[in-house]
Amino acid sequence: MSGRGVFISFEGIDGAGKSTHIAALARVFAEAGRDVVQTREPGGTPLAEQLRALLLGQEMGPLTEALLMFAARRDHLDALIVPALKAGRVVLCDRFADATFAYQGSARGFDWERLELLERLVQGGAGPAGPTAGDALLQPDLTLWFDLPPAQAAQRLQGSRLPDKFERQPAAFFEAVRAGYARRAREHPQRFVRIDATGTVAQVWQAVQASVRARGWP
Ligand code: TYD
Repeated sequence: MSGRGVFISFEGIDGAGKSTHIAALARVFAEAGRDVVQTREPGGTPLAEQLRALLLGQEMGPLTEALLMFAARRDHLDALIVPALKAGRVVLCDRFADATFAYQGSARGFDWERLELLERLVQGGAGPAGPTAGDALLQPDLTLWFDLPPAQAAQRLQGSRLPDKFERQPAAFFEAVRAGYARRAREHPQRFVRIDATGTVAQVWQAVQASVRARGWP
């Protein structure tokens, strides 16, 4: 389903430091002559960015939160990600569906199997009737999971800016988010790469580059 493009997602708890590396990787692909789209979730389209403002600013129940995350994701896929991949572009996405499993699933306690149901509905087919048999689930070709202990991530976030709804959560919440990512990594070993994010920016960048080169990119 991803056509000729390349779809890479970046995951990790808040403060894992993925933004720096997304920008650097975008430059590497661009220098190699690839057309790069840098985007994020929730967000990436005008509608999904409006949903992002609600999701990051307002308290809501876990079902509402999960549904809005997936609604934003569907618009993002329809309006930006799928057309870009069909056109052969490189899509670098700051968070994707794994974040919903880690945050709404593992940390908020929303049922994992129900999230998989929503995932199939939203990423399983483009038609208005929803996914049909044989439709492949649209997933990233590669997911770089920036992993580090929540205490270290919290230190990095300290004083950087006003924390949003998720960033205000206690350490136990991020332990659960981290466990959620670990579960997704176990369930999707072919596309997940765990990046040790405890090192210096240079060390982490080396690991990022190595994982991308191992796939034959850029
Ligand atoms: P984040 O990606 O950290 O952006 P910024 O660096 O601008 O803060 O913020 C997105 C927040 O949304 C983050 O706390 C994780 C949360 N989130 C979910 O809870 N579920 C999801 O499915 C996604 C995509 C994000």
